[in-house]
Amino acid sequence: MSRARSCAWTVVGRPTAGTTRRRRSRKPLMKVGVIGCGFQGSLHVECLQALEDVEVVAVCDTDRSRLDEVRSTTRSAKGYADYRDLLDRHALDLVTVCTMPNHHMRMTVDAFATGAHVLCEKPLALDASEGREMLRAAAAADRMLGIGFNMRFTPNAQIIKRHIESGVLGRPLYTHAWAKSSQIPWWGEHYRKELSGGGALAATAVHFLDLALWFAGFPRPVAASASAAQVFPTKRGPTAPDTASAGRYNVDDLLAAHLRFEDGFWMTLQGSWVDNIPSHADGSPSWDYSLDAIGESAQAVLDPPSIRGEREGEIIELLPPDTVSDVSFPPSVASLIAETVNAIRAGRDAPVTGEQALVTQVIVDAIYESAAAGAEVSIDPSELDWSR
Ligand SMILES: NC(=O)c1ccc[n+]([C@@H]2O[C@H](COP(=O)([O-])OP(=O)(O)OC[C@H]3O[C@@H](n4cnc5c(N)ncnc54)[C@H](O)[C@@H]3O)[C@@H](O)[C@H]2O)c1
Repeated sequence: MSRARSCAWTVVGRPTAGTTRRRRSRKPLMKVGVIGCGFQGSLHVECLQALEDVEVVAVCDTDRSRLDEVRSTTRSAKGYADYRDLLDRHALDLVTVCTMPNHHMRMTVDAFATGAHVLCEKPLALDASEGREMLRAAAAADRMLGIGFNMRFTPNAQIIKRHIESGVLGRPLYTHAWAKSSQIPWWGEHYRKELSGGGALAATAVHFLDLALWFAGFPRPVAASASAAQVFPTKRGPTAPDTASAGRYNVDDLLAAHLRFEDGFWMTLQGSWVDNIPSHADGSPSWDYSLDAIGESAQAVLDPPSIRGEREGEIIELLPPDTVSDVSFPPSVASLIAETVNAIRAGRDAPVTGEQALVTQVIVDAIYESAAAGAEVSIDPSELDWSR
């Protein structure tokens, strides 16, 4: 999500390349393969290597320099240009899929066929039909499919979820979620729909759609009405690259949706990669990501975190005044990965399940369909049924 991860790593301590970790516990060693060594794959490798009883034994990327760079941070991982070699040559317990969404389905299905569990990066896939195929493959192999919606593991999201579970918000009524940033994520080809499945929604705002659904208990979606635009290159932002990249740019970068769910819950979602938010003083891009979840008794804001209720006619803040706002990105990815590994060991569901990601993907598809048609679209319950 953000390129500023090196700053955040200085807070939690970045593992040193080549550091030898001694195994202290007696849990069986979990052997992991990571496919895709770009922005997110290199972070997965770092996070996995920080865990005890986990070893990254193989990594894969079609780009030789990225592969070599990531391999140099591991103790002895083998490197492959073809992911099928990575799958064939190792008995892997877990495969993490960190390529762009156009590869998620094929790589995940092939990994299940080898008997590995899979943690696949968000969004689930290019569309829901691919997502349903991934869920069928997980069920056929009796393996876990987890998805990389790491924002749930930020301290702010965890605090709000705990309060929601305690019942303080009451019945969920309406959530407004937004993800606005001052620049396009140029480091990867997130701006090519055929690779990413979409832009400001599928690549970025989808995190806050997932959070809103998680807070509301994953109600069943029934309809979406949306509008979307491609504003780049008219608005370029501070870090727009050369025109060659711009020529392949074909995604939504400004979007708004109104979503209706069963039992009367509704939400609005806003995504933008071209917001005129000033950059940070050091020139790095800035963003404004948050949500406002309104329940029958109180309402919660993600960032800065707040839960406001009322007592005897007064509005009161229910979070302690010393609550620190923390939505740092790399530690939340580290927590998601650690919880995924724990879930595999304990035979539990993934912390972010494939079924939940399918609900999100069905909504993403409906939003794009509605924006293209210029009309509300209904969501049929059969779209959530992956068993057929
Ligand atoms: N959870 C998050 O917050 C978060 C943040 C960033 C990216 N992501 C997700 O991670 C995925 C990758 O995004 P990224 O930003 O790391 O992109 P990236 O372009 O930096 O990395 C993708 C890598 O995959 C490699 N690759 C392409 N085809 C391949 C193939 N056939 N076999 C092996 N490797 C191949 C590319 O060479 C590249 O190094 C996307 O699904 C994205 O949405 C998630």
